[in-house]
This record gives sequence, structure tokens and C-alpha cells, in this order.
Amino acid sequence: MKRGQPIGIFDSGIGGLTVLRELKKLLPNESFVYVGDTAHVPYGNKSNDSIIKFSKKLTSFLVEQHNVKLVIIACNTASSIVINDLNKSFSVPFIDVISPLKSYLLKPNNEFIQNIGVIGTHNTISSNAYNQFLKEVNINFKIFSKACPLFVPIIEEGLADHEVSKIMIAEYLDSLMKNKIHALILGCTHYPILLNQISSYLGKDVKIINSAYVVASYTKEYLNENAEQNQALTTTKLYLTDESQHFNMFATKFLNTDFNYIKKINLF
Ligand code: DGL
Repeated sequence: MKRGQPIGIFDSGIGGLTVLRELKKLLPNESFVYVGDTAHVPYGNKSNDSIIKFSKKLTSFLVEQHNVKLVIIACNTASSIVINDLNKSFSVPFIDVISPLKSYLLKPNNEFIQNIGVIGTHNTISSNAYNQFLKEVNINFKIFSKACPLFVPIIEEGLADHEVSKIMIAEYLDSLMKNKIHALILGCTHYPILLNQISSYLGKDVKIINSAYVVASYTKEYLNENAEQNQALTTTKLYLTDESQHFNMFATKFLNTDFNYIKKINLF
């Protein structure tokens, strides 16, 4: 791993941009290469075999064509399914979006959290990855999970501010509220795009855990420990596996045009 190399990031679509934005704030001297697999979004209802195949292709692109020093799997669905396969197949280090939550949950100001809601895609919830992980952090956590499969298409279609998102938030989160959760983990990197809407539904008594910020701080610590923070001029390059007008519009607004370009690539 070399200082001058960029950091690679992948997701199925625009969700990982929530992680990229936090990374750019915390690591302004780093370069980034982001790839959104818009040809296959959503990952949340694809088979494990497909998600492994797609994730390997995206990683190869980042490693072989961009010589990245580190890959951030900015997708909970992929993080819960592919991490072992990726570690076996590539020598580049990976950071997933689930395990960095450990130190966050163990902070003294989070001691009040006992009942935890987790929302994610069908695949993330049915993989049980969060349940296993949270029980390892604290066996006494009470975990209430809920798959919210329509959130990703709503977000990818640019409907976060539409009435339909409010209706679906109420539909999905009602049962979690009945379980008196103290915190809600946004177990999909797309969901922070609905943060305001989710937080108005939950009210101020439920803490929302947005892994985008947690993953970015974890990455910063990781690079510091390995003395690998860049100091040079930086670039941010975005790649898509299929055309997506909404991706272009969203990235421009969300990253405040702070990137070099968006290009379509033929990976599949
Ligand atoms: N943003 C991803 C996640 O964190 C992928 C969602 C999807 O494509 O279904 O799970």
C-alpha cells in the first residue's frame, strides 16, 4: 500500500456516495475512485452468487485499472455477503460498512442503547450479518430487524422527497417503533439519503446510526495507523456500469460538483 494511490469504493448505485462524501470531508488529501454498479442495482434482491460475481468484477476494476491502496465496500448488502470471498481472492485490504460500528457502539455515550432497530435490504437482513455482529459486540442487545426493499428503488428514482417515501417509512418503521428501540442502524448506504424523512418519523428519542460517518472515521484511523494518508493533489473519479441520468444529477448536487468526472464503463 502506497501513499499516492487512490482509495477505491464501490456500491450498487448512488448509496455509496453517502460514504464518499464523509470520506472526502475527513480525508481531504486523498484521491478516490468510485464505481456504482448501476447496471445491476438493486443488489438487495439478487442471489449471493450474483453479488459475489459483481463485487469481484468491481474490485478487479479498482485494483487492476486504478491501482487502489484500499477498497471500501460501501454497500451493506455486499458487506454482509462477500467480504470473505473478496479477502480470499484479492490481496488489497478491504473495509466493510458493518464492522466499524463496533467501536462506535461501545462509546460511553452510547451505553443507553439496548434495543436496536436495523433496517436494510432483503439480502442484508436475511444474511443475519447484523444480528451476529451486534451479538458479538454485546450479547445483551435486543435486535429488531426489518427489510425495507422499496427504499432503494425510491431513492434511485429520485423520489426521496416524494410523498411515497413518507408512506413507506411509516409502513416499514411502525413495527420497530412498537418495540421501543433506542437506536436505528441505517443498514444500507442508500438510506442516509432519507435521513431527514426517517428522523422526522422517529422523533428525537431514537438515535439514528448512519454508518457513512462511522466508516469514514474508521478509514481515517486505519490510514493513520498505517501511515498511509496522502499529501498530494487529489482527484475524485466516478464510474458507472450503465448510464443513469439520476446518478449524474444526484452526484452533482450531493458532492457539490466536487469530482473530476462521471464515466460509463463496460465491465459486464
Ligand atoms: N447501498 C447498498 C446497501 O448498502 C445496496 C442496496 C441495493 O442495491 O439494494 O445495501
